[in-house]
Amino acid sequence: MKIDVRNMYTTYAINPLALKDTRPRLSWVVETSERRKKQSAYRVLVSSSQQLIEQDEGNIWDTHKIESEDNYCYYSGEELESFKRYYWKVKIWDEKGEESSWSKVSFFETGPLSKSDWKAKWITKRDLKTFYSAGDFSTEKFKHYHAAYFRKTFEIKNEVQSARAYISGLGFYELYLNGEKVGNNVLDPGQSEYSKEALFNVYNITSFITEQNCVGVILGNGRHLEQFGYSKPKLIIQILLEYVNGEKEYILSDESWGSSHGPLQENGIYYGEKYDGTLEIPGWCTYHFDASNWEEVEVTEGSNLRYQNMPPIRVTKILKPLKMYTLKPGVFVYDFGQNFTGWVKINVSGPKGTQLKLRHSELVNEDGSLKNNTLRKAEATDIYILKGEGKESYEPRFTYHGFRYVEVSGSPFVPTIDNIEGRFVHSDVEKVGDFYCSNELINKIHKNILWGQLSNLHSIPTDCPQRDERFGWMGDAQLSAEEAIYNFDMSLFYENYLQEIKLSQKEDGSISDVVPAYIKLYPADPAWGTAYITIAWYLYKYYKNEKVLSDHYESMKKYVEFLHKSSENNLLKKLGKFGDWCPPGAISPKKTPVEFTSTWYYYNDVYLFSKIAEVLGKEKDAQHYFELSENIKKSFNDYFLKDYGYESRMFGPVDRLISQTSQILPLYYNMVPNDKKEFILEKLINNIVEHQDSHLDTGIVGTRYLFDVLSENGYSDLSFRIATQESYPSWGYMIKEGATTVWERWEKLEAGGMNSQNHIMLGSVDTFFYKYLAGISLEKDGWKKARIKPHLVGEEKFASAKIKTIIGEFQVSWEKGENLFKLSVVIPLGTEADVFIPKLWNEFNLKEERELLFDNEQIKDFKERNDIKLKEYNEENIILNLGSGQYYFELEKK
Ligand code: BGC
Repeated sequence: MKIDVRNMYTTYAINPLALKDTRPRLSWVVETSERRKKQSAYRVLVSSSQQLIEQDEGNIWDTHKIESEDNYCYYSGEELESFKRYYWKVKIWDEKGEESSWSKVSFFETGPLSKSDWKAKWITKRDLKTFYSAGDFSTEKFKHYHAAYFRKTFEIKNEVQSARAYISGLGFYELYLNGEKVGNNVLDPGQSEYSKEALFNVYNITSFITEQNCVGVILGNGRHLEQFGYSKPKLIIQILLEYVNGEKEYILSDESWGSSHGPLQENGIYYGEKYDGTLEIPGWCTYHFDASNWEEVEVTEGSNLRYQNMPPIRVTKILKPLKMYTLKPGVFVYDFGQNFTGWVKINVSGPKGTQLKLRHSELVNEDGSLKNNTLRKAEATDIYILKGEGKESYEPRFTYHGFRYVEVSGSPFVPTIDNIEGRFVHSDVEKVGDFYCSNELINKIHKNILWGQLSNLHSIPTDCPQRDERFGWMGDAQLSAEEAIYNFDMSLFYENYLQEIKLSQKEDGSISDVVPAYIKLYPADPAWGTAYITIAWYLYKYYKNEKVLSDHYESMKKYVEFLHKSSENNLLKKLGKFGDWCPPGAISPKKTPVEFTSTWYYYNDVYLFSKIAEVLGKEKDAQHYFELSENIKKSFNDYFLKDYGYESRMFGPVDRLISQTSQILPLYYNMVPNDKKEFILEKLINNIVEHQDSHLDTGIVGTRYLFDVLSENGYSDLSFRIATQESYPSWGYMIKEGATTVWERWEKLEAGGMNSQNHIMLGSVDTFFYKYLAGISLEKDGWKKARIKPHLVGEEKFASAKIKTIIGEFQVSWEKGENLFKLSVVIPLGTEADVFIPKLWNEFNLKEERELLFDNEQIKDFKERNDIKLKEYNEENIILNLGSGQYYFELEKK
């Protein structure tokens, strides 16, 4: 059988090293090019050793043959033990009962499964030098500490079979073994509500271990600052050595460690960092180093630890500057031609003690000098003091910047373009989507969105990467989530974020606009708080993660109940603060009442929660919340539906302009009474076309739903026109004005304030490209069914997209010529798709791989075929249902 079982995931990760889950989700993807292939059964084996799994012996768990089409199961064998590796593999049977061979072997390791498995102690440096850096949301300066260095030596007793390091260092740490940095993660651990849970990482350090060893750690501030409610930077590390003879030994952080200050001094997310090369301590992390002047550490309190089961932050790309110029004597500016997140690495040589200063900005003034207003109070300056020992290089480690330009001053020589390289730094989520079409502007918008999206993934979804914020604003997160899911594997990233939302929840059920709640903004605007429900729902819808729904069920219910308690007559008039934030011309919504947006999200959350209850089989709740959602809908219409359309604030008798967002939101959920739907749609279209010259007039909320509403209601041409506008307000306008990411505001604003050049909340338009231009969208949860419906709009000649989903990869590519329309489709095993072929001409032939399916209106006899089924045939489309496999259609004009 031509079936290849691959892409094996354990709770959405490949070979994770410290699973905390005692019922991990084991999943696989089956690849085949055969048509209408299905899985009818599977068998999973879990073994305690490589040898046993190779002998097909599931001594830990053997599911035996299970009749099921699901490409995953939840482990339910004997209880898993801490710090152990488990091997697993799977085979499947197809729809005819034919058996595949075994998959490759995958594994997962358990970490500390109970609190008592942590034997190490939290430690901190006794005396830490402090400094102050600018902060946000207060005029106060934030107290920071100089970086602290820790070390400890140990010898091994026997031959080492395997070694693991379990570590958390707050705010940020770097781990070294015998002088070498371990792993390529940066800015670890991920940000969290440190007082409740700190994230820990695991490294396989077997290859680092020698007979005599030294383990070293550098600690920086990160977000772990007093002003956010935390104390000094601290560290916990537990090294587990497993000897060949089966014995185990732990090396633990405790009173026996030494600490010191070192070359890395000031450091902060907004601040930048200062590294004094003249203070380097050669060999500080080697066994024979004389550490007699290092001080004893202090044992301190710490919080619970949670495995950071999501892609770490890494340097993912190296950027060469496009140009450089001399601003004035000794001051040089480099332009990377791209706004991005990270830092630069600089290669220099010069006299000892020379101080190099690197300043960052998104923009420059006309004279070429940095225009750093958009950073607000973030200093974003790195300082490097040369050792003076020939060629040296420097890059920061406990800060990051959002920038396009770097200014270098203090250089002892005239630097060249080759002295600097940019480092793109973000959570290293896998890219799963690809989109390309014949419209260059759309390709450019898509590209800007990808840069903007990645720039704003820093272990949490952030609003921006440059100014003195970079917080997990939940509105920004939820509005861009579907776009992010089309482009990247967000399964673990968002699962981690939901845990943070849960930790931020107060007793009364309320959550904060910003999560982790470093600044406490309770209760959240409903358009921000909805992130909890909406993102959880996406995790189910796109990744079939029902566990996340059950893990968060009670807390989500508490949140929905909080909304309910805050409502009056089913309307939510109280909690709104931001609403349809940042429409053209303003920050706060002008035309869309905030209570309108709040109540609509109240409906959204209650409605989605009823669906969540249904998925989990909680029928009573499902019924109850569904009824509540129906009541909200009714009250919403009674209150907000006026004779001129849905409520819009108008500014006087001559102002007849309604809010686009107010019409879009109820249309999105089909909340509009049937007899009013045409009227509301007409109002919306009329406003867009007649009053706004085919431009949007929406803030971040309206923009998110606009393209779905127009495209689903037969107005994809208008969607396309809006998306490809080059005059204000539009993405094309941003690009014309030099944007290489997506702005926070529709306006070109460069003074200090709310005008980041790299926000992601308006990036939601990207789903229009995938879902409608290329035409791939999800029809049944977990991609059990897809819809392939290219919308042939404007002058578009071709579009193509692919998406790697939890079930396999979907591909679509179409091309429209004068007399010929070509469509290629790939559908993975175990799923189906309805494919819409537009009837472009009155007289046509439709062929698939040269076989005639339609001759004009005459249906050729393909009824017997199992691979292609005619589902519907109407004025506009021929709708075919396909199973797995590759298909190639040609619609030819006669
Ligand atoms: C952030 C936004 C955020 C907003 C709340 C801003 O400062 O940058 O993106 O959602 O505040 O209204």
